[in-house]
Amino acid sequence: MPLVTTKEMFERAYREGYAVGAFNVNNMEMIQAIVEAANECRSPVILQVSAGARKYANPVYLMHLVKAAAETTDIPIALHLDHGADFEICKAYIDSGFTSVMIDASSKPWEENIAITRQVVEYAHAHGCVVEAELGTLAGIEDDVSVEAADAQFTSPDEVEEFTTKTGIDSLAIASGTSHGASKFQPGQDPKLRLDILEEIGRRLPNFPIVLHGASSVPQDKVAIVNQFGGHMPDAIGIPESELQKAAKMAVCKINIDSDLRVAFTAAIRKHFAEHPDHFDPRQYLGDARAMMKEMVKHKIINVLGSANKA
Ligand code: G3H
Ligand code: 13P
Ligand code: ZN
Repeated sequence: MPLVTTKEMFERAYREGYAVGAFNVNNMEMIQAIVEAANECRSPVILQVSAGARKYANPVYLMHLVKAAAETTDIPIALHLDHGADFEICKAYIDSGFTSVMIDASSKPWEENIAITRQVVEYAHAHGCVVEAELGTLAGIEDDVSVEAADAQFTSPDEVEEFTTKTGIDSLAIASGTSHGASKFQPGQDPKLRLDILEEIGRRLPNFPIVLHGASSVPQDKVAIVNQFGGHMPDAIGIPESELQKAAKMAVCKINIDSDLRVAFTAAIRKHFAEHPDHFDPRQYLGDARAMMKEMVKHKIINVLGSANKA
């Protein structure tokens, strides 16, 4: 099936109270893991490409791999540019066939964020592509840029109506307690989302899809495997799945997950080499990594996002 935009995905997700997973991809095995999982769960899915992925893999490879994956299934798949830094980057990906882009000018002053976002929206909509933008600042590590927790800012509900009206965006990423990377909360901290902010934004923007970045849960069973087999992942806590389940039932229609996929991939490879130190065929350990990632994506779709059987 050809790639689709997120428009109809989000309309149904909003109406029926679930969220679509947006999973970051960097290579063929990751794309296969996610698409096979979504296909088996009969779930719509978004595959997204970060700046780091673009640098690592060459986006042309990723685009063709995603198109190949879409040919193997009839579930709706959107291909999304994650954290596009400026108009030129967004334009290049719209031109190359991405069906959705994020313009992330959230670190820019208000007027500038609006102007850049508006420019991307005009170009994207003229080319059949949808646009996500961000208001507020998330802590953590994103595309090699590190934002200290003290500098992070929650999205102000007072700003969302003006921002969406002036820009014409299709979805809005907000800061409501999530953060990028595998260390979101320290042990002892209360890992809660500001669902009150989300609720108020939902009231101000009826029927409008909200996006959560930095929504990995850092599953302790996978971290334990990494650490059991020679890894040193910090004792960190992610976003509890129970919080994400609540957000998915509210206005959140897209939930971004990258770090959890990395943890699963790495756990499987560490385990594989501990158990088979003689192996040197990449298909053996990448096969295990793909299988563990697929299992994790199925878990997210069925137990966290609620998007199974919505394809
Ligand atoms: O923006 C969120 C991504 O997790 C950053 O990933 O290191 O591939 O750029 P990256
Ligand atoms: P995590 O680091 O929590 O997986 O977030 C990923 C993300 O928001 C990508 O844009
Ligand atoms: Zn992000």
